Amino acid sequence: MKFGFFDDTNREYVITNPKTPYPWINYLGNHDFFSLISNTGGGYSFYKDAKFRRLTRFRYNNVPVDDGGKYFYINDNGTIWSPGWKPVKTPLDEYTCRHGLGYTKIKGAKNGLEAEVTSIIPLHEWCEVQKVSLKNTTSQSRKFKLFSMVEWALWNAQDDMTNFQRNFSTGEVEIQDSTIYHKTEYKERRNHFAFYHVNVPVQGFDTDRETFVGLYNSFGDPEAVLEGKARNSVAHGWSPIASHFLEIELAPGASKDLVFMLGYVENPQDEKWESKNVINKTRAIQMMAKYDTAAKVDAAVIEMKHYWNNLLAAFQLDHEDEKLNRMVNIWNQYQCMVTFNFSRSASYFESGIGRGMGFRDSNQDLIGFVHQVPERARERILDIAATQFEDGSCYHQYQPLTKRGNAEIGGNFNDDPMWLILSTTQYIKETGDFSILDEMVPFDNDESKAKTHFEHLKLSFDHVVNHLGPHKLPLIGRADWNDCLNLNCFSNNPNESFQTTENQEGGVAESLMIAGLFVTYGKEYIKLCKYLGKKDEAARAEKHVAEMIEAVKQHGWDGEWYLRAYDFYGKKIGSHENEEGKIFIESQGWCSMAGIGMEEGYVEKSMNSVKERLDTKYGIVLNNPAFTRYYIEYGEISTYPPGYKENAGIFCHNNPWIMIGETMIGRGDAAFDYYKKITPAYLEDRSELHKVEPYVYCQMIAGKDAFKPGEGKNSWLSGTAAWNFYTITQYILGIQSDYDGILIDPCIPKDWKSYTVNRIFRGTKYVITIQNPSSVSKGVKEIILDGKKIEGKVIPLIKSDKKVNVQVTMG
Ligand code: BGC
Repeated sequence: MKFGFFDDTNREYVITNPKTPYPWINYLGNHDFFSLISNTGGGYSFYKDAKFRRLTRFRYNNVPVDDGGKYFYINDNGTIWSPGWKPVKTPLDEYTCRHGLGYTKIKGAKNGLEAEVTSIIPLHEWCEVQKVSLKNTTSQSRKFKLFSMVEWALWNAQDDMTNFQRNFSTGEVEIQDSTIYHKTEYKERRNHFAFYHVNVPVQGFDTDRETFVGLYNSFGDPEAVLEGKARNSVAHGWSPIASHFLEIELAPGASKDLVFMLGYVENPQDEKWESKNVINKTRAIQMMAKYDTAAKVDAAVIEMKHYWNNLLAAFQLDHEDEKLNRMVNIWNQYQCMVTFNFSRSASYFESGIGRGMGFRDSNQDLIGFVHQVPERARERILDIAATQFEDGSCYHQYQPLTKRGNAEIGGNFNDDPMWLILSTTQYIKETGDFSILDEMVPFDNDESKAKTHFEHLKLSFDHVVNHLGPHKLPLIGRADWNDCLNLNCFSNNPNESFQTTENQEGGVAESLMIAGLFVTYGKEYIKLCKYLGKKDEAARAEKHVAEMIEAVKQHGWDGEWYLRAYDFYGKKIGSHENEEGKIFIESQGWCSMAGIGMEEGYVEKSMNSVKERLDTKYGIVLNNPAFTRYYIEYGEISTYPPGYKENAGIFCHNNPWIMIGETMIGRGDAAFDYYKKITPAYLEDRSELHKVEPYVYCQMIAGKDAFKPGEGKNSWLSGTAAWNFYTITQYILGIQSDYDGILIDPCIPKDWKSYTVNRIFRGTKYVITIQNPSSVSKGVKEIILDGKKIEGKVIPLIKSDKKVNVQVTMG
């Protein structure tokens, strides 16, 4: 069953039934100010950091889920409704929610009255604006009342949800004209405040939640709305809100636009006050003036569309499969930008207080957006590298507001450093900007300890070299990419976290996943060194990579697939000898991508074993058989019920590793088959089961051992977005960025006849048409560049204002 449809022309997903199987959300904002918005108007806003600068309140795991947002209420002579259906839930005559790129339009209609709310965070502004368009479609004149409502969060989201003994006494507001200012803690240590404004005079307001809602009522039936009258309450402590009250009259057929604005302002210390305890509102008023008419909001929407047109233009596919086009051209790229902005911090599954920007996560996310915003990718790489330590290890996450690393979710994950080589080489291949390697980058944010970025890469490489176990394979540390394979944490205490506990000393747990990662990006490091003329360093690295390949062949091959790890005691994990968890996806993906044992047929065997043992109707599960009991020596992985998360769930992040593995041996049909199984546009028809949005990837789909196989969870913030984009564009469609140009190396289903990719690469527009007359999966027979045949598979760099035409014939 579907709950809406893709409108590809407008690049929107249109939801036509508000009762989606889970809130289907969108993200607004691109730089500093962000909002999450659901299809019924739920969600919240924050400035830069969802933990430290939460502007409006949202209660996670609420009943009902997704209660609280930026709500509008209409009281039409006693008929009370909301344009987004919630929170009032009066049945509407018409409802649509259009989630677009950087904006959302929610429209409701009841008894001939229409209300459409367009929400957008204009580019480079610290505010969200909402254009509310009201229309009387009847032949009678209509008089009705409109209420707005947002609930303020007291800035620190963690504190806001826990420290009630203090918070119920600190809330403060100011009201001036049609603006409600939230100034809790402004008097002392904060120089920021927020405001909620509407561009017309109001007939009343409320700022105290209990007065507006009523202690025994809910957002769905606030007393003030039921009564049809604001109470002009002024909050002192308790829970401050901002609600405008407007009495509106519309002649037959008439319409009216209002503009609401939720803004955030920082004042310099010496400009904080207008008079004693009265905040200086100059900057707020300037901001309001920027969007004081509906036309200005419309212009912001158009600007946003242009912005996205430009971003998406860097890679556009023209293929006969419309689902593939919409994922590659629109939604996958959009999701990659969202993961760039949020890492794993704020979604409807990430509370915004648990995690900041992940070291490994953000490095991987980068491969999905570097072609869109290379300058910001550069800054991101350097920010991440600055949280590294002098021995190459690093903080597992950093806080976006301060850009400083912290150990709150643990450290010592031995895969972390290698991802820096992935992001940096992808950045250079995309941009040709080698100067990033010469940047002086601090360690642990300490400027006095800085080395070049290249040195950071070397340290990353050497961190693995310096942490080898008895089989000369990489020691796993706290865990590798799989956070839940905690091999040095034997926990019997429910009060300790698997992520931060490392209570075993002297263990020898080794990871085959890191071994594959090391060989893959070790080879990249060697290639880079050679490119830079660092021959000795390349030779040194080559020796280590060759040793690692040998170690995997000797100690990491199980006969039909790659082992996963050695545990604390040096016993095999992911072997046919194990009772459960005989085979794991990560080492099959990474050792295959690294091409380890290619000549011996290991890659092919590994891929065959994945097909046989891990593949399901809904995607590839992480391991098999699932763990059915707790293995204290394996950690969190065996705590999940079978079929969920890291215990045999379909972890969509790692499925592309297998797709790439398949392309290594030329099996394009298999690669694309795996791609379709987890790519949301292909799952739209089974939205009821899949549950989460059909326009973005989710982190996990329940595996075959789960209660409900095929059910998705944790949408939006997952490395799945970047890896799928990278895989489909570079390995399946085969348009790979490289130091000297674009490498063409498709690996496609045999029945694909042709497709065209428009690629803007280092400023030049390439139109690349791939023809497959002989129905092959791999192999480039000929490349014609602007009418001339070229040797090899790399389209050289061309500086040109004109489009460069590339005709590729496979065969
Ligand atoms: C984390 C990743 C981790 C993955 C697998 C995700 O939730 O963000 O860092 O690699 O889980 O455990």
